[in-house]
Amino acid sequence: MHVRFPQHRPRRLRASKLIRDAVAETSLDPSDFIYPIFVKPSGEKEQIPSMPGQYRWPVGDELTRHVEEALALGVNKVILFGVVPDELKDSAGSPGYDPHGVVPNAIRLLKQTFGDKLLVFADVCLCEYTDHGHCGIVRERRGRWYVDNDETIKLYAKEAVTYADAGADFVAPSGMMDGQVAEIRKALDAHGFHDVGIMAYSAKYASAFYGPFRVAAASAPKFGDRRTYQMDPRNAYEAVKEVMLDLEEGADIVMVKPALAYLDVIRLVKTHYPWAPLAAYNVSGEYSMVKAAASLGYVDERIVTLEILTAIKRAGAQLILTYHALEAARWLKEGV
Ligand code: PBG
Ligand code: ZN
Repeated sequence: MHVRFPQHRPRRLRASKLIRDAVAETSLDPSDFIYPIFVKPSGEKEQIPSMPGQYRWPVGDELTRHVEEALALGVNKVILFGVVPDELKDSAGSPGYDPHGVVPNAIRLLKQTFGDKLLVFADVCLCEYTDHGHCGIVRERRGRWYVDNDETIKLYAKEAVTYADAGADFVAPSGMMDGQVAEIRKALDAHGFHDVGIMAYSAKYASAFYGPFRVAAASAPKFGDRRTYQMDPRNAYEAVKEVMLDLEEGADIVMVKPALAYLDVIRLVKTHYPWAPLAAYNVSGEYSMVKAAASLGYVDERIVTLEILTAIKRAGAQLILTYHALEAARWLKEGV
């Protein structure tokens, strides 16, 4: 096509809101969002200092009222993260698979209150529950610590069954242990939970963008870092391998995390597995950076947030885990 100006005037398709809307390739809807919620066993609702506008919710009325507000805005999917006091933590993360633990209690409350109107996802990991803050069982060999993969995935399976038993619609393993999806699928099926799905954190990178979350969930490692299990940010094609393995192991939904600095990975995964439902996690650091910049007046929070979420969707994610879910839903309703 060598016909150019004046035959072609791309601005014709930008001339009014109606025509821009008519030719838009991407649209955003509150039903695209999965809203992450931090739940704690008891006490008062607490503001999370590293994440303005986010709270740790005690399992109770305030939580259900908040979820009702989400539903009224069209946000009908939540993912739960447990926060427990240090005294309850141990080296094996046992509060994570306690049937009367904070996450199972929250799942039961939400499913009893909202039933099929709400999809409940439950994050499956141990870093919120271990006294050392790593995502699995830590052992020592020749004077060096390591996370024991095969022992850890047995505990993830136990945790997943506990959440399924409480009524979770999907479990979401985020620990980046090898074989975790297969082990969880096997355990769910053995307990009759054929209908409970797995959303796998397949390509989860070792990222400093998780900083504010680790404050929120008190889940920072006490020593070392997570680079022996989470992915190296230098690698994109390796994400294709991780997604392939998780799909083979029985993942129903796969995920790329974080989102904003990894849009290329989202696109790459979508291109390789167009049939696989793909989620992306707009993580805590991405949220808090926008909040900080907006509070200083450097950016317009509403427009920047919708632009970021649109970009994540345009890259190929059909589901977006985002702390901005409620505000974004409100902004979408108001129209830009
Ligand atoms: C636990 C987990 C983390 C996040 C989700 N699940 C933290 C981590 O891996 O250290 C991060 C979410 C966020 O930053 O918003 N494995
Ligand atoms: Zn973890």
